[in-house]
Amino acid sequence: MDIKTVGVVGCGLMGSGIVEVLVKNGYNVIVREVTDDFLDRGLARIQASTQKAVDRSKLTAEARQEALTRIVGTTKLEDLAPCDYVIEAAVEKLELKKDIFERLDTITRPEVILASNTSSLSIAEMAAKTRKPDKVLGMHFFNPVPVMPLLEMVRSFMTSDATYETSRKLGESLGKQIIVAKDLPGFIVNALLVPYQLDAIRFYENGLATKEDIDKGVRLGLNHPMGPLELADFVGVDTILFIADEMYAETKDPRYAAPPLLRRMVVAGYHGKKTGKGFYDYSK
Ligand SMILES: NC(=O)c1ccc[n+]([C@@H]2O[C@H](COP(=O)([O-])OP(=O)(O)OC[C@H]3O[C@@H](n4cnc5c(N)ncnc54)[C@H](O)[C@@H]3O)[C@@H](O)[C@H]2O)c1
Repeated sequence: MDIKTVGVVGCGLMGSGIVEVLVKNGYNVIVREVTDDFLDRGLARIQASTQKAVDRSKLTAEARQEALTRIVGTTKLEDLAPCDYVIEAAVEKLELKKDIFERLDTITRPEVILASNTSSLSIAEMAAKTRKPDKVLGMHFFNPVPVMPLLEMVRSFMTSDATYETSRKLGESLGKQIIVAKDLPGFIVNALLVPYQLDAIRFYENGLATKEDIDKGVRLGLNHPMGPLELADFVGVDTILFIADEMYAETKDPRYAAPPLLRRMVVAGYHGKKTGKGFYDYSK
């Protein structure tokens, strides 16, 4: 299948990164956000990130300008009708994603593959909302998408080989390295990461150590580039809560039960770097 125009649903941290990587690799993109304000913020993130790439001589100014002209922003999901492939990157709420897939099924052509960038949710449940569950799969990128080389592909029991092959080629054309997981909560990476991050938040909440020492312990003792609380701020504290709640709802596994502090931080708007405060303060 010839993919020229890709639809992206959501232009937050992940959606904007996915759009950037697509247009830098020659695709046209139609990206949908819920309001003009969210769309403007997402597009501004792409402008800034591609400018940084120019400043670091990773992209020419001409190539940046040309890539940016291939992005069309919209607040109407119906505008994704001409797309040859769609990647959904809206917030991590299963009911919302199911609704988006149901609508995309009627908006896009029957042969168009519908992918979700979900971190943890059931691909089969989204697929079941469409008339083409064989054409639905997970394409889980990592943050920041222009920098992180990994793409975790998730096949539900209904995903066809053709859907997988086309999507793998798309992922490779974006320069990504691919791992493949079954459609089980958290797939490979988040099934490992989420219990570890929740443990770190519990340690901090219970006063085992300072946040700085928890992060330093992991950075210097385990050689991770970021500690778990720094990483939570980077990923989005709200996103961690949504992932944990959805994984707990599906598995009832206490390892995924969100610590009260996490829930309180989200209610209070401490969503991490993107809101200027999380476990740490980024307001300066
Ligand atoms: N943050 C990460 O590190 C990370 C990594 C991999 C995957 N993910 C997954 O990517 C998805 C998005 O996460 P994010 O970090 O970009 O969150 P985010 O909060 O930065 O962005 C989500 C965006 O989706 C928009 N949105 C909500 N409903 C929508 C709809 N119906 N149509 C279009 N847009 C809609 C919101 O306005 C928001 O801008 C989630 O499924 C998340 O689990 C996140």
